[in-house]
Formats: sequence, structure tokens, C-alpha cells
Amino acid sequence: MNTPAKVIQLRNVSFGYLSGQPLFHQLSLQVSAGEALQLIGANGCGKTTLLKLLNGLIFPDEGEYLFLGEPVTKKRMADPAYAKSLHQKIGYVWQNPDAQLFCSSVEEEIAFGPVQMGLSPIEIQKRVQDALQLLNISHLKHRAPYTLSGGEKKKTAIGAILTMNPQIWILDEPMNDLDAAAQSWLTELLTSLQAAGKTIIFTSHEERLATALQATKKDLA
Ligand SMILES: Nc1ncnc2c1ncn2[C@@H]1O[C@H](COP(=O)(O)OP(=O)(O)OP(=O)(O)O)[C@@H](O)[C@H]1O
Ligand SMILES: [Mg+2]
Repeated sequence: MNTPAKVIQLRNVSFGYLSGQPLFHQLSLQVSAGEALQLIGANGCGKTTLLKLLNGLIFPDEGEYLFLGEPVTKKRMADPAYAKSLHQKIGYVWQNPDAQLFCSSVEEEIAFGPVQMGLSPIEIQKRVQDALQLLNISHLKHRAPYTLSGGEKKKTAIGAILTMNPQIWILDEPMNDLDAAAQSWLTELLTSLQAAGKTIIFTSHEERLATALQATKKDLA
């Protein structure tokens, strides 16, 4: 039987911010295609930091991060073509949507990824309409993201990833700011993405998503 391909491998990774204590020491982990992984641990233990590292926004002080078998290094990420391809394969929903949203309308925000991917205008329009409907935010499409409520911002941030249809979803506290109905909706969405073979890495201080996705846990504490 074939073992599933490892999409993400950390080998003995150490990292600390210049101004702070070391956060990870010789951390190793592997994520297979189609797996769901939940990062757990107390506030400040480094969950968001690890997700940034997986997105190639920061780099190990020691050790190696391999994405699809190849090292992700500062030098490599300085190549715009490589960085773009990594960001299209890994969709990242930030803990704070204000850090993710930068366009002047919800519609532009959700279209940004497909435009960057060079899709045809018809395909872009279709993906945007589908996402707006699926998220039930069509009425917000002309609004500036900074005027939205917390939950509306979160939905917009999820929509911006949905239209890119990445292989890997990384979500930092995705349930935050969502009401009970939206949490149920997101749980169903991620369950269906998992059934379609997507890899899902997330943090959450509550168990609902982990249970639905039968996620493996990695404790960073
Ligand atoms: N840019 C930065 N420069 C210096 N220190 C930072 C930086 N970003 C985060 N930290 C510190 O690194 C530690 C880990 O932060 P991180 O945001 O990764 O934690 P977390 O596990 O995601 O916490 P939470 O559960 O509150 O979201 C914290 O002590 C934080 O203050
Ligand atoms: Mg965090």
C-alpha cells in the first residue's frame, strides 16, 4: 500500500523572535495529504508563529521546513514566482482578519486570488459569485472590509481563500467571531473540503472542529 505523500515536514526546527525567548526547540512534525492537524497550546505558546512559518512568512533559525518535499527558505521565498505558487497552494486564514483584508471592497477582496492566478474574467466572476452566495454575504459585496463586523470580516477572509481553491488550508482560530450558525456552516465546509482531499491545519481553543475533522493534535506547550 502507498503511504500518503507528506505535504509538510518540519525537521528539528528552532525559532525565536529576536526580542523574545526561543519558541520552538528542535520541533519536528509531518502532515500528509488529506490529513487534518490541530495545533493546540496556551495563549502565546507559538501557534500563530508556527502557521506563519508554514506560510513562508518567517523562517527557522535552525532545522528545515520542507513543503512538497522541497525546502522553503528565505532565499527561495524572495523569488516572486515561487512565493506566489506557495501562497496559491496554501490558503491562509489569519487569526486577525484585519491583517488579511486590504482591498477596497468585499468583492475585490474575494476576486484578488483568482485575478493573481490569471484566471479568465468569466471564471473569476463565477468563483466570486459562488463564494458570495455560499457565505451568504452577497449583500456586502460593495462594502469596504474595514466597515464590516468581526464575523463579516472573517467570512470575507474565508471567501478570499475559497475562490483560490488551494490544496492546503491553514486557519488560525477560524471559529472566532462567528456565531453558532456560521460556526456550523464553517464546520460543514471544512468537512466537505476534507472529503475532497484537502489538507487542513488549524488552531482552535474549542473542540468542535477537531471532532468533526477527526484531527490529529500537536501540542506546542
Ligand atoms: N513579531 C513578533 N515579535 C516579537 N514577539 C512576537 C511576535 N509575534 C509574536 N510574538 C510573541 O511570540 C509568542 C507566541 O505568539 P503567537 O502569536 O505565536 O502565540 P499563539 O499561540 O498563537 O497565541 P494565541 O493563543 O493568543 O493566539 C508570544 O509571546 C508573542 O508575544
Ligand atoms: Mg494565535
